[in-house]
Amino acid sequence: NIKGALFDLDGVLVDTAKYHYLAWKELADQWGFEFTEADNERLKGVSRMRSLEIVLEVGGISISEEEKLAKAEQKNERYLEYIRRMDASELLPGAKDYLYRLKERGVRIALGSASKNAAFILEKVGIADLFDAVVDGTKVAKAKPDPEVFLLGCRELGLKPDECAVFEDAEAGVAAAIAAGMYVVGIGSPANLGAANRVVGGLDELAG
Ligand code: BG6
Ligand code: MG
Repeated sequence: NIKGALFDLDGVLVDTAKYHYLAWKELADQWGFEFTEADNERLKGVSRMRSLEIVLEVGGISISEEEKLAKAEQKNERYLEYIRRMDASELLPGAKDYLYRLKERGVRIALGSASKNAAFILEKVGIADLFDAVVDGTKVAKAKPDPEVFLLGCRELGLKPDECAVFEDAEAGVAAAIAAGMYVVGIGSPANLGAANRVVGGLDELAG
């Protein structure tokens, strides 16, 4: 039986992919190349710097390490402008209900996200209080598919990996959860999340 639930943030609890997309697209526009929503799929679950490298690769552009830091910062400034306006209406269907349901059952809840803006977003959408632990991009050194983020979350909950379940929408995140030795529920389509123990379209299917 599961004692802990670890949630990815972007694409599982909130739909921030559209804001990441808009912010990256502005950089691409400035460089003068097209960055499509299909390209944006490659950024899901991936760290900010790695995302920038993928964007540069799409545009066939190469810049110095120093410029990369400046561009990543510029992207984040734009992204912050979008997420500052977020509220509870941007929680994905079923997210809040499912978190409450788990709480009622005594399941401990942690966040396991690559984002350095995770704590801010949890506050904005009003679910920060539901988390017993928050592990995000400010706390981990190794990005998904490395299991670090989930192992740390499980440890902060005071549990063992086989007592935890992970909820993930990104392929790299599912791989990280498997590597951590946890039960994994893919949120999205079996087409790319087939490695998960179970795949559902959204948390609303579980909150039901
Ligand atoms: C992940 C997103 O949750 O966080 C990625 O899926 C994003 O798209 C990554 O690049 C890092 O986010 P941030 O907020 O630290 O730039
Ligand atoms: Mg995600």
